[in-house]
This record gives sequence, C-alpha cells and structure tokens, in this order.
Amino acid sequence: MALILGIESSCDETAAALVDSDRRILAQAIASQEAEHAPYGGVVPEIAARAHAMRLVPLIERVLKEANRTLSDLDAIAATAGPGLIGGVMVGLVTAKALAMAGDLPLLAINHLEGHALSPRLADPSLQFPYALLLVSGGHCQILRVDGPGRYRRLATTIDDALGEAFDKTAKILGLGYPGGPAVERLALAGNPRAVPLPRPLVGSGEVHFSFAGLKSAVLRAAESGAHEPADIAASFQAAAVDCIIDRTSLALKGMGPVSALVVAGGVAANQTIRAALEGLAANHGLPFIAPPLALCTDNAAMIAWAGVERMAAGFPADPLDVAARPRWPL
Ligand code: KG4
Ligand code: ZN
Repeated sequence: MALILGIESSCDETAAALVDSDRRILAQAIASQEAEHAPYGGVVPEIAARAHAMRLVPLIERVLKEANRTLSDLDAIAATAGPGLIGGVMVGLVTAKALAMAGDLPLLAINHLEGHALSPRLADPSLQFPYALLLVSGGHCQILRVDGPGRYRRLATTIDDALGEAFDKTAKILGLGYPGGPAVERLALAGNPRAVPLPRPLVGSGEVHFSFAGLKSAVLRAAESGAHEPADIAASFQAAAVDCIIDRTSLALKGMGPVSALVVAGGVAANQTIRAALEGLAANHGLPFIAPPLALCTDNAAMIAWAGVERMAAGFPADPLDVAARPRWPL
C-alpha cells in the first residue's frame, strides 16, 4: 500500500490531496481563485501564481492534519509539472521538491493531462486499459486512446480553441462572467437550442480534429445582432458544441481499435448535456460510458496523487530534484 500527497497549481485552483493505492482519498482541499480573477473575466497568470504561493503550504498542512498524517507517513510527493500557467506550476513543483527533500521521499513530476486521463480509474476500479478518452478542459480538447500510464495515442486535438475556452468566451460575450462553463450551462436550460443557427465546424469531415473558433465568432455575431435572447444563444451554442463533440468522437472511435469504454474527463465533463449525449454515443458503439464524479472532473489534486500511484505501480522511476516545470507538455 502506498500513500501519496498530490499537489495541483497549474491554473486557478490551489489543491492538495492524500490518496492511497487502494483508491482512498484520505483528505483533500481546494482553494479556488474565482473571486480574484472574476473582475478580469479570465485567469490572470501573475495573480494566480501569487495566490498559489500564499495558499499552497497551509493547504498541504491542513490536508495532512485532517488525515492525521505527517511527512514520514508518505511514500511519495506528486505534483503537476505542466502543462499550465508556468508561475503557478513552479510554485507547486518547487514546494513538492522541498517536501521531497525534507521527507527523503521520491518526487513524481506529473503531467496534468495524465492526471485528468487517469482520474476515471480512481473513481471506478473496473475501468480497464485501453479506453477511449475525450479530454475536454479549458486548455485542452483531445481524443486519446489510453493504453496505460505513460502510454497514450492521440487521435484528435483542436486546431484552434479548446472546448472549455469556447464556453468561457461565450460566457464573456453574453456577459455571464467567469468561470463561464457552468454559467452557460445554467442559462442554456432556459433557452431554445434550435433558435439560433450556428455552424458546426468540421462536422462531417473525414479528418478527426476539433475547431471552435468559427463557432465562437458566430456566437459573437449573434449576440451583437441583438436579435436573440441570451438564453437562446447559450442553448444553441451548447447544442452546436455537442454536435461537434459527438461527430468527432464517433469518427475517432471507428479508427481507434478495440477499447473497453468511452470515458470523458476534464472540466467540461461536468456539463450534463454533454455527458448525456456521450452516454448515447457510447451505447451506439456498444461501449460502457464512464464519467468521473464532478469533483474529479475539474482541476483537483486527488487526480495528481492518483496519477502518481499509477505511475509508481507501473514501475516509472522517481524524478530528479532538478526536473523542470513545463508550460507545454503534450501527452
Ligand atoms: O479541467 P479544468 O478545471 O481546468 C483546465 O485544466 O483547463 O477545466 C476548466 C474548464 C473551463 O473552461 C470551464 O468553463 C469548463 O471547464 N467547465 C465547463 C463546465 N464546468 C467547467 N464547461 C461546460 N459546462 C460546465 N458545466
Ligand atoms: Zn485541468
């Protein structure tokens, strides 16, 4: 049995969690910076880094206390080493290095995307490799075949915006503030998804990739025209996004080889309409559909600790104390 401290600081959530190899989350804490970034309508990297620097160590202290553990009870320290906003990543990674040195513990430099990709296995012990993964967050929009820790085949990515980014920009256009995804989803409940004609970029294309820039521009034009209710725009945007996701994921599934399940992860996986559509798609392909609980979809430290558990179990070595923080780091 291994016990790992996970640290996440790559965007606007400061998070720490203690997770063991039996899939138990012994304690976790997340400090959101929503209030700090809200006046700017998006995450300001410098403000994020300062907030991480202020909050991370007390948060780790709290998590250890809550679980009644000390550094000497741990088997490793896992921290996000990228990709993400580099100032924040450095705060988390340097903290992890210092703790690893102080506790004479292995350091595991985790790819944030691997955290999202493996998080469904923390919640669901029955999920076996390989599985098809739609990874949709604020910074990423990819379809992967997950063959195991450190073993990914990417079938699709976005040629412009990520899906979460499109939600956030739509929210900004509609004056819904930040963070945008949940606000658009809420407003869409009151709208008609067929009211505003919007494009479905790349739908029907034989090449598996995503594109959301054209959809975003069309949302802007629809809003500026003054001819539509904001709720109708939100609902129509969400419907267009769902059509794109389903079309692209369906195509990817056909070219992926046998997989055990269709899995969705990342912040946008919190969206109920998207979940429901993917569930239908999985059924059409004869696959179980798996989505982690909402708290594991958005950024959190339990998924980083869990990626550490999986990597240790798969025999990956610890990282050296001079391992670099990486703003970009494809899986
Ligand atoms: O994974 P995540 O917490 O951070 C990144 O690594 O990017 O994802 C955040 C993204 C944001 O763009 C946010 O607007 C979006 O996920 N999001 C949603 C919902 N909840 C969060 N998008 C659509 N519907 C939601 N309910
Ligand atoms: Zn994320």
